[in-house]
Amino acid sequence: APKNEVPHRAPVVTIMGHVDHGKTSLLDYIRKTRVAAKEAGGITQHVGAFEAKTSKGKIVFIDTPGHEAFTSIRARGANVADIAIIVVAADDSIMPQTREAIAHAQAAKVPLIVAINKMDLPTANIDKVKQDLIAQNLVPEEFGGDTIVVGVSARTGEGVEDLLEMISLVAELEDLRADPKAELGGVVVESRVDRQMGVLANVIVQQGTLRVGDFLVVGERYGKIKALTDSLGARIKDAGPSTPVQILGFSEAPTAGDMVASARNEHEAREMVQSRVTVRRDGEQAREKRRMTLDDIFGAGGEVREINLVLRADTQGSVEAIQGILARKTSEQVNLNVMLAGIGAPTEGDVLLASTANATILCFSVVPSPGVQKVATQKGIELKTYRIIYELIDEVDRLIKGTQE
Ligand code: GTP
Ligand code: NA
Ligand code: MG
Repeated sequence: APKNEVPHRAPVVTIMGHVDHGKTSLLDYIRKTRVAAKEAGGITQHVGAFEAKTSKGKIVFIDTPGHEAFTSIRARGANVADIAIIVVAADDSIMPQTREAIAHAQAAKVPLIVAINKMDLPTANIDKVKQDLIAQNLVPEEFGGDTIVVGVSARTGEGVEDLLEMISLVAELEDLRADPKAELGGVVVESRVDRQMGVLANVIVQQGTLRVGDFLVVGERYGKIKALTDSLGARIKDAGPSTPVQILGFSEAPTAGDMVASARNEHEAREMVQSRVTVRRDGEQAREKRRMTLDDIFGAGGEVREINLVLRADTQGSVEAIQGILARKTSEQVNLNVMLAGIGAPTEGDVLLASTANATILCFSVVPSPGVQKVATQKGIELKTYRIIYELIDEVDRLIKGTQE
């Protein structure tokens, strides 16, 4: 159908930012519930999606955690959303996870709105936040830039209407449409196992319509929808585009970020799963062929001039020491490009970064968790760990030598 005949759909908006800057509280105010107060330790542990009926119509919101351990979840949040709200506390300004959230939104190429929260605090310093935003190349409209900045308070509600207004304005410009009659497309935002109910998967329908009784294929699993609930917990029979739903019917929990498709019957569902497994295996083999290991590089020689590295170490001192040595080893022939240097064990986010940048992860005096190691193995990323700094440097020397031979 021509695009202008496809109906409009509600925007999907993700709320990102540093820990405790008020993301969940802001959403609570918008949907008038009290989720933040009920969370264990006041920390959002998962990605929740819900639908809010606002004065500007329906908006789907995705809450994300600010804690640094959740990088990959935030990255997924940016990929399913049309618009990203970056929440910055007015008393704290830009913090590490704020920068990361901005980077994810920019990488996903979604329009971004900055909400400066906690404006009610006497320590709020909006001018400082705006200066810090400019330093991040986010120039507020009032200074001639194109970054939409709204001051809000999740406590008093100040500015929240303006924020909703801005969301609907941006959504209108984006001209978001989806066909409820198209083939089903959706994405898993989270899943969990409930002791009584079984596997519950939270999905946002992106196009088409999902119905109770449908066979769904998610990643490499399939299931038949036994029950469907909306984000307020009401039983529903079907759900169209831009609707977050909870699905009961999978025997195993799907992974957040998995795409959801529908099949006509169980046979077709099983065949779709089978072909996906084959596609994945072929993809992995192709990746294995493409990606060079350190050993390949020692033996290969000549071609690689750029060495991408992710560096993880136990203290700021060792990070700086290693970076200093690496900087001196960078020459006209070989560029040692440290994509990310950080304190503490490597995260899943580091592995995702290394995977997109074809980087090697070097760890000094920090050990990856089994979970992160597993993801690295799956993605074919080398995670090298050292306890002696000179051994790490020796490795880098071998890498450089490999590129020169
Ligand atoms: P994570 O999910 O853990 O990253 O945190 P969050 O960004 O969702 O922040 P959350 O909503 O949990 O709020 C953190 C703290 O800030 C809580 O104690 C809130 O009551 C407080 N807070 C949130 N918004 C405001 C606000 O506008 N004004 C004031 N004074 N306090 C706020
Ligand atoms: Na919090
Ligand atoms: Mg939260």
